Amino acid sequence: MNVVILAAGQGKRMHSDLPKVLHPLAGRPLLAHVLDTARSLSPDRIVVVYGHGGEVVRDAIGHDGIAWARQEPQLGTGHALAQALPGLDASVPTLVLYGDVPLTRADTLRRLAATAQNGVAVLTVELDDPTGYGRIVREGGEVRRIVEQKDASASERAIREVNTGIMVLPTRELSGWLGRLSNSNAQGEYYLTDVIAMAVADGVSVRAAQPAAVWETLGVNSKVQLAELERIHQRNVATALLEAGVTLADPARIDVRGALAAGRDVSIDVNCVFEGTVELGERVSIGANCVLKNARVAAGTRIEPFCHVEEADIGPLCRIGPYARLRPGTALAEDVHIGNFVEVKAASFGPRSKANHLAYVGDSAVGRDVNVGAGTITCNYDGANKHRTVIEDEVFIGSDTQLVAPVTVGRGATIAAGTTVWKDVPPGALALNEKTQVVKPAYARPRKPAKR
Ligand code: UD1
Ligand code: MG
Repeated sequence: MNVVILAAGQGKRMHSDLPKVLHPLAGRPLLAHVLDTARSLSPDRIVVVYGHGGEVVRDAIGHDGIAWARQEPQLGTGHALAQALPGLDASVPTLVLYGDVPLTRADTLRRLAATAQNGVAVLTVELDDPTGYGRIVREGGEVRRIVEQKDASASERAIREVNTGIMVLPTRELSGWLGRLSNSNAQGEYYLTDVIAMAVADGVSVRAAQPAAVWETLGVNSKVQLAELERIHQRNVATALLEAGVTLADPARIDVRGALAAGRDVSIDVNCVFEGTVELGERVSIGANCVLKNARVAAGTRIEPFCHVEEADIGPLCRIGPYARLRPGTALAEDVHIGNFVEVKAASFGPRSKANHLAYVGDSAVGRDVNVGAGTITCNYDGANKHRTVIEDEVFIGSDTQLVAPVTVGRGATIAAGTTVWKDVPPGALALNEKTQVVKPAYARPRKPAKR
């Protein structure tokens, strides 16, 4: 089939310079969610009708497998769909979606397409308060036409079954119907909804199908609605994680903005944010208030509260945090400990190595069984270039050490506390800077005058 996504409308009530369909839900534009759903149906063609916001929308979304049709000016949903017609395959049906309705499930759309057979199918819902929507007018149980709120009589306004806007139409007939639309109605627009009565008049069947949940058909017109849909989406993601066996301290306090894959017996405490692609191995536990972006965490690793992890590959049985920051290019082998206020960037740690307190390890290769003492800093930047630090297996680095890169500390070497290492240290050696401790006995410290 063809899929047409209507996305030319303005979205005035967002009060934003960003075109409405580019506002993010779960970290991605609304329109990207609709496109994902469309693509999952493997359609023959996808055409997006754009207009308001112009090229900004097109540039943000790209051209991967989609055609763009510009609607300028925006004269209504029927006029919008007419702009897409030249890009459609007339021999297959056309599914109409809205760019600002992000949560429709592919299953629902497949069912709608099956309902249409060779005719028309409209996705409808019953609402307690149908105000604002087009009403489904039935006679003898059959759908006859759709009347918009502003054109409806009092008795029509009492109808609670509404048009979600999502429909499947036979494309050849559709192009005839669109050509005959008129804009003599309350809004002076070319209503797509008017094709329903035309189909009935032409003897084409019109059926209705309903989604499993009303939220599948909710659109975004304001920041309030955007926030509501975000919560619905996050609740759905949390439910799926729980159903897969993940323990969530509170399913209302997790945000997944991308794809989170979790093995058996994973547990996640409150207020964690997962962005991009995150993989958690079996028995991983994530403490409260962690942010993980594009990261892989292997089996049995514990991430304590308040950690920030981005583009990092964490091995099994590691202990990270609390308050650790793993930046892009971090690669930790098994049983590595990274403690509080330790920052790691573009660095690898071998098995069983530890940096437990207050350190910066950047552009480094750290071997196995290394101890990086508190306050250790790799001085990787000379103001212009980044240089590498190599710390070989079984090295012991005392507290408050500066490693001025490029520098290598050989296997098994020991660095005394408070050393500035600016030359390579051979394997097995002790490196220290000669300093003296000066002691002046009975020192009289300056004192503030006594208060009267
Ligand atoms: C439309 C339906 C109404 C339905 C409601 C569901 C018509 C005439 N009415 O009303 O029956 O109950 O949606 O939300 O179809 N758009 C364009 N170009 C335009 C106008 C709209 O691309 O010229 C796009 C919008 O970006 C949006 C969608 O079409 O994605 C719906 O437009 P909107 O203005 O929200 O239609 P409604 O008046 O709410
Ligand atoms: Mg609307």
